[in-house]
Amino acid sequence: MTDKVLVTRRVAPEALAKLRRFVEQVDVHEGNTALSEAELIERVGDATGLLVPGDVISAAVVAAAPRLRAVAAVSVGYNNLDIGAMNARGILATNTPDVLTDTTADLGWALMMATARRVTEAEHYLRAGRWREWQADLLLGQDVHHSTLGIIGMGRIGQAIARRARGFDMNVLYHNRSRLDEAVERSLAAEWVAKDELFRRADHVVVVVPYSPATRHLIGTAELALMKPTATLTNIARGGVVDEEALLAVLRDRRIAGAGLDVFEGEPDFRKGFLDLDNVVLLPHIGSASAATRFKMADLAVDNLIAALNLGPHAGRPAH
Ligand code: DGY
Repeated sequence: MTDKVLVTRRVAPEALAKLRRFVEQVDVHEGNTALSEAELIERVGDATGLLVPGDVISAAVVAAAPRLRAVAAVSVGYNNLDIGAMNARGILATNTPDVLTDTTADLGWALMMATARRVTEAEHYLRAGRWREWQADLLLGQDVHHSTLGIIGMGRIGQAIARRARGFDMNVLYHNRSRLDEAVERSLAAEWVAKDELFRRADHVVVVVPYSPATRHLIGTAELALMKPTATLTNIARGGVVDEEALLAVLRDRRIAGAGLDVFEGEPDFRKGFLDLDNVVLLPHIGSASAATRFKMADLAVDNLIAALNLGPHAGRPAH
């Protein structure tokens, strides 16, 4: 039986061309929007592999694909895949770490700075024709340089953010399930602290911890209540890590200076209450969205899928 791969959404044509060199049948959903679960179930049929740029692969989708052997996520996060259902069938799942680390850290930095310095709010002010004259107290924000950064989740992206902090002379605190090696801590000049202490001391908190049932609403009313009134919170991980109702309340009451959100619990849907607030910067999940990085992610996901299906050069059987 030949292999068949379903590509659930548009990816770089070069990556598709590579896939086609190794896989006889490639079925591409040409649209740029997610297939529904019902559509996936209908289409997944005899696929042996899936290339998945963000779509939800539920247990029902897995069950509808009796020949499925591998699922390649075009993302570092894989909370969109039902890993339990895949494990039960011995289906391999892969992701795309490393290639997006710096791009995502850059976006985290941009979002933190935009939030602290009220960049989007200031632009709206100008575009709305409200700028009449220079004023000493116009749109005053919070400094980033020489402040204390608190990083929740110190994996690859967290560490890349810590490296950037050195250029801003920041004091770096982090909280992670496990502490980094002392040598790594030293090289990043980062100090491990308990979660509550981080929220109490940080001027800018950046959330980069992966989503799992254990990290759902890791940051809620209790943590937000510990933050300084001048502090900001930036989430580039997954929306579900932060209790958005609690965050909305804190922002409405101006109990922290602001928040920057690139991710939302029910995205692309999100709590519309955020739209009424000028102290939150809202982005449509663009953490890894540079042209070069999205290309590398698709390319790596294809390599992963080819290897997982055992079709690579070692298997010695390109289709054409
Ligand atoms: C990732 O790779 O997990 C990014 O958030 C894009 O989904």
